[in-house]
Amino acid sequence: MSTTKIKCIGVMTSGGDAPGMNACIRAVVRTATAHDVSVIGVENSFAGLIKGIFRPLGARDVGGILQRGGTILQTAPSPEFHTARGMQQAIREMNNAGMQALVVIGGGGSLAGTQQLAELGVPVVGVPATIDNDIYGTDISIGVDTALNTIEDAIDKIRDTATSHGRAFLVETMGHKSGYLAVLAGIISGAEMILIPEVPTKVKAVSDMVSEAYTRGKTHCIIVVAEGASPGTSEIARMLNEMDVGFTTRVTILGHIQRGGKPSAFDRLLASRFGSRAVELLLAGQKGIMVALVGNEIKSLPLHEVTGNTRRLPEEYIAMARTLAR
Ligand code: F6P
Repeated sequence: MSTTKIKCIGVMTSGGDAPGMNACIRAVVRTATAHDVSVIGVENSFAGLIKGIFRPLGARDVGGILQRGGTILQTAPSPEFHTARGMQQAIREMNNAGMQALVVIGGGGSLAGTQQLAELGVPVVGVPATIDNDIYGTDISIGVDTALNTIEDAIDKIRDTATSHGRAFLVETMGHKSGYLAVLAGIISGAEMILIPEVPTKVKAVSDMVSEAYTRGKTHCIIVVAEGASPGTSEIARMLNEMDVGFTTRVTILGHIQRGGKPSAFDRLLASRFGSRAVELLLAGQKGIMVALVGNEIKSLPLHEVTGNTRRLPEEYIAMARTLAR
């Protein structure tokens, strides 16, 4: 690998936290220090970049964080960053601190902010991290696998009580506008039905399915509802309770437990690979890119391609979910 003059890089996490962010910070710091490059941690994402809330991160400072959920650098919204003044201030703070390049670990909004910095000439590399798995160009983002394991565990438990009482359950998953988490969770936990934003469904179709499940003698009926689905959880619950579908219905909104917890083995490895490669690419003179997992290989693609495209939910998952739910 050719070396460049970079002697100091920054690292920050941004957007919603995702399990594995800390493992990625650790990989960035340890890879950089192995190349005699110093690292500055930016606290509170773009808000901290504007205010210069920085701390030096050495190899020892990132000990013991590999297995921790959340992000030691914290994350915060920053409407100010997206103004010309905010950008200017952020670059000024970077220059004052001697930060020559930046690794940003985050989701879609964070990568868009990173692209804005790239357009102003700042050497940046983005690392996809969001439980939603809605980022174009990468098969999977940091945090998705752990979130799926959390949902799987929760639905296994819900099924125990659903079967004991002969109930239908609506289980709401996160995912913003993407149905990825809901579909995958539905497949791996054997849900009877999955409702996602990508496939609008009528309430009547849901009540018919629940009613048929009851008539066929099922002891429970689990419906996974993505938070962005239409109709949403509360409307479906209200309708099912008003109609006579056999089962009584209960609702569980899984909420932020999906974002917390220690990262899975997969996420620790992915985060380590992404973090190491991000630094190697910066030191090789590459910038304005995002690292991505394609197949089992770590690749990279231009950030403008990432932010200019929408990741589509693979059709095969939707079809498989339908087939297996019978
Ligand atoms: O992007 C991650 C995510 O957890 C989404 O799934 C969800 O819609 C959103 O963040 C929730 O954001 P907040 O923590 O601000 O409520």
